[in-house]
Amino acid sequence: MAHVSDLIAEDIDAYLEAHQHKSLLRFLTCGSVDDGKSTLIGRLLYDSKMIFEDQLAALEADSKKVGTQGGEIDFALLVDGLAAEREQGITIDVAYRFFSTDKRKFIVADTPGHEQYTRNMVTGASTADAAVILIDARKGVLTQSRRHSYLVSLLGIRHVVLAINKMDLVDWSQEVFDTILADYRAFAAQIGITEFTAIPMSALRGDNITAVSEAAPWYKGPALLPHLEDLPVEDQLRARPFRMPVQWVNRPNLDFRGFSGFISSGTVKPGDKVKSIPSGRESRVARIVTLDGDLDIAVAGQSVTLTLEDEIDASRGDVLAASSDPPQVADQFESTIVWMDDEPMLPGRPYVLKLGTRLVSASVAEPKYKVNVNTLEHLAAKRLELNEIGVCNLSLDAPIAFDPYVENHDLGGFILIDRISNRTVGAGMLHFALRRSQNVHWQALDVDKAARARAKGQTARVVWLTGLSGSGKSTIANLVEKRLMAAGRHTYLLDGDNVRHGLNRDLGFTDADRVENIRRVAEVAKLMVDAGLIVLVSFISPFRAERRMARDLMGADEFVEVYVDTPLAEAERRDVKGLYKKARTGELKNFTGIDSPYEAPEHPEIHIDTTAMSAEDAAELIAARLMEGLD
Ligand code: ADX
Repeated sequence: MAHVSDLIAEDIDAYLEAHQHKSLLRFLTCGSVDDGKSTLIGRLLYDSKMIFEDQLAALEADSKKVGTQGGEIDFALLVDGLAAEREQGITIDVAYRFFSTDKRKFIVADTPGHEQYTRNMVTGASTADAAVILIDARKGVLTQSRRHSYLVSLLGIRHVVLAINKMDLVDWSQEVFDTILADYRAFAAQIGITEFTAIPMSALRGDNITAVSEAAPWYKGPALLPHLEDLPVEDQLRARPFRMPVQWVNRPNLDFRGFSGFISSGTVKPGDKVKSIPSGRESRVARIVTLDGDLDIAVAGQSVTLTLEDEIDASRGDVLAASSDPPQVADQFESTIVWMDDEPMLPGRPYVLKLGTRLVSASVAEPKYKVNVNTLEHLAAKRLELNEIGVCNLSLDAPIAFDPYVENHDLGGFILIDRISNRTVGAGMLHFALRRSQNVHWQALDVDKAARARAKGQTARVVWLTGLSGSGKSTIANLVEKRLMAAGRHTYLLDGDNVRHGLNRDLGFTDADRVENIRRVAEVAKLMVDAGLIVLVSFISPFRAERRMARDLMGADEFVEVYVDTPLAEAERRDVKGLYKKARTGELKNFTGIDSPYEAPEHPEIHIDTTAMSAEDAAELIAARLMEGLD
């Protein structure tokens, strides 16, 4: 393995040239600290000479100081780079490491094994070609080995290596190895892993890592590193139909228009017929342009710019695909979702979905079930918490091009992003499009919103009053409606207490129910705006995300958010319905402001401070603003 340093010293150009043309294998290691995962990675880096001399000196010094190997090199110290990890003895984040051999370059994602870190494992696995699942020979197949394997199978990682480590501690017993193998094979079959390679090894001693060891003469398979060097990569992706999500439209001048992107599957040549999805427009590839000149062919894994023979419209987020075998287009799906945020996934809440280069608004239905990752049991669930995995239907606000995840990870894998904080809150895999979306069409109507509003001599609007219970929303809304009526306007008042007696009678006050409460009332308000009415909505609507959703449902300028701002102490002092008292004694649970949050609006169109203004004056102000149109 002494290739690196020698060639670098002798002929740097030759080294770089050879290096550039080596294939890349991304793999993931799963296991916990005790299984020897860090030791294994440290050993791979060490044996492939990817440790620089100064690191080596530090490693030797550290090994003497804090190592667990009695003065010998403790490879785990090399990898367990994070300070917190060193202190606590656990791995807490995904670390990517690079090394290379004569044959191949490698990127290894080192992910923690604990259950609470499912999200990190999913992050590390999302681009992996192979997974090395570590098993401690003394312990056999544990719950966590099953959990890791389930995730590996869920994420569709094609090559699985079962690294049965610490064989030196069981005297290289073939019987132990065979028992573990049989155990694992039985379990793996249940989760759809039919092929895997099991290797007995000692990462610490370096047996069966870079070369086959004499320690286990009964083992006839490859050592780990040569096996990883020989795993096929990319070939399967190349054999699939051509797909390239458009990253940007390259238009330096009027004579050149190229579509740039990363080819996620298939191959493409000048003359090939391609289709832009979702528009469905077709053309042929004219040129494949790269920084190093035009290509005759480009394949999965390359980033290129394509020019087409015809001027067809495609923009960022669209997919250029083989005309003969294009991806499907849909806006409703069944999917598996892994939740990655501390705040739970709430059904009905709109998130931003990113798939390929496309961003669309998406909401998730109540999970069909969630999966206990340790037992693989299906459990009923109303929502998904951090690190939970569930099967849920998804509904997008626009159709997208996609492939099922099993066929194409790039066009079937997505992440969900919180609209307010921009955090990645979930990751998922599309299974299939729901037939419903193909059969329920939007009916175009001749009389439209503008016509209906015009007939009433007004501009349709939603006036959305938000604030704590007892803040005065309903009182003010009621007064506003009276004024508008008197001025000949056509109105309707949707009030939380009233709507909860009818349409939303099935909903309570959990976060999930409040999200659904607001989703429904926002949809109803939208219909009423469509009918040309001025709609007053008086709901606590405590969450920013759902008020934002309501706003986004309406046209520009149609949504007027009014923050009825009464401090908690004041609302509680008034306690018109006696509910604060009940909430304080614990008789009423999940009460807004007490044991359920209220997120105040940051930029309401109108801010009413009820401690400084009477309800009459507030109503006057709101009605005046509505009738004069907004600023
Ligand atoms: S929201 O949070 O989902 O928007 P909504 O406005 O529909 O609430 O209903 C709030 C009304 O329900 C309150 O004005 C109060 O009369 C009543 N209520 C009963 N229980 C609760 C509770 N736990 N939290 C808030 N309001 C409650």
